[in-house]
This record gives sequence, C-alpha cells and structure tokens, in this order.
Amino acid sequence: MSVTSWFLASFIIRHTLIDKNLIIIMHVLDPLFEQNRIWSKKTQAENPEFFGELAKLQEPEYLWIGCSDSRVPANQIMGLQPGEVFVHRNIANVVVHSDLNCLSVVQYAVQVLRVKHILVVGHYGCGGVRAALNDLRVGLVDNWLRHIHDVKQKHQAIMDATAPEDRLDRLCELNVIEQVLNLAQSTVIYDAWARGQEVSVHGLIYGLQDGIVRNLNISIHSLNAICPAYNQALSSYSTQA
Ligand code: CO
Repeated sequence: MSVTSWFLASFIIRHTLIDKNLIIIMHVLDPLFEQNRIWSKKTQAENPEFFGELAKLQEPEYLWIGCSDSRVPANQIMGLQPGEVFVHRNIANVVVHSDLNCLSVVQYAVQVLRVKHILVVGHYGCGGVRAALNDLRVGLVDNWLRHIHDVKQKHQAIMDATAPEDRLDRLCELNVIEQVLNLAQSTVIYDAWARGQEVSVHGLIYGLQDGIVRNLNISIHSLNAICPAYNQALSSYSTQA
C-alpha cells in the first residue's frame, strides 16, 4: 500500500468512527423528546387551553427554594402544575447573602411575580448535609458546603445531644431553619415588608422514604416575627444529652 492510499484509508476509518459516535450522541436524547411529546399531547387532550393560557403569563403563588437532588422535584411533590411554583434549587438548599443567583430569583419572585409564600424545603438524607456532617472532601462543592458546617457549629449543643443515628436528620432540619432565617433577613424581604407587601417565609422538610413534606414550624411574615419564630422553632430541640 502506498503512503497516499494508507493515509486515505486511515482518514476514512477515523472519520467513519467519529461519525458513528456523533450519530449515537445525537440520538441519546431521543427518549426524552419522545416522553415530552407524549406529555404535551396528554396535557392538551385534558385541557386544550392549557399551553395557550400558560404562555400569556405566570402568576405563581409560591417560590420554592430546594435542594438540587433529583429525587426532590418541586411540582410533583406538591401536586402543582406548571405556572404554579417558581423554583430555585442548589446543593443543600442554602440561602447565602452573597449569592446573586439565589437573591435575584427571590427578588424577581417577590417584586415582579409577587409570590405570597416562599418555601425553603430541605430533605432528609441530603448528600450535601451528610458530607458536611461527616467532614467528607468532595471537591469544589466543599466551599459551598462550608455554610452547612457553620450551621453544625452554631448548633453544636443540639448536635451533641442528638443520638449519632439521628444527627443527619437533625442537621437537615437545622439547616432549613437557618436558611429561613437568612432569607427573612435579606434586603429583598426586608424591603418587601417595608413596602407593606404580604410575603411569608416557611421552613419545610421532605422525606425521601415516604414522600411526605413536614412543616418545621417556622413561618415568618414580618420583621418583628423573625426572632420569636426562630426561637420557637429551635425550642423543640433539646440541648441535653
Ligand atoms: Co440534598
């Protein structure tokens, strides 16, 4: 085989292989498109006006701030339709005062969409909380999970008084309570209350085992309610071993 024909043959083989991979990659999302078409058809069959009405505007009553965990989808858990809940998710449902992404979502939801209730929703068995609890090194995300470490340190007395097997559940709950506090103390919520806008912040937690959302009994609707609500929520936890 001459050098030219060898080069030509290897070129053809190489590009044929690349093309095969490309074809595989192009079709890897086919099941998702198929499922989407089925969903769209079914939804329109049940309510022909559904997409037409939804395309005009969104008027959600709720903002959901939850974990990115694939097992905790906001709409399905609460039985809410598209258009009924505005959603922000990140690892371990953290609300940080310097996180422009989260704060922008809250600001838009409160000021433009005028949601009435903000739900901070944690979940039991949260991998992010577990990593913080057990001081696991995961990578870049360790810096984000530092906020959960802070929660653990702040409530060390409660953690110490909790049986080892219950500590993950406890930290998941305490994390929600702290993020509710962070949110209630944000400028966006302060400003909304100063304008006289009615908006409440609630702390909830979801059970992966039973699909049930539990109320952590922290709901804050005004500046004056922050401290009493926070202290009330924490009072249910013992600090005695
Ligand atoms: Co999680």
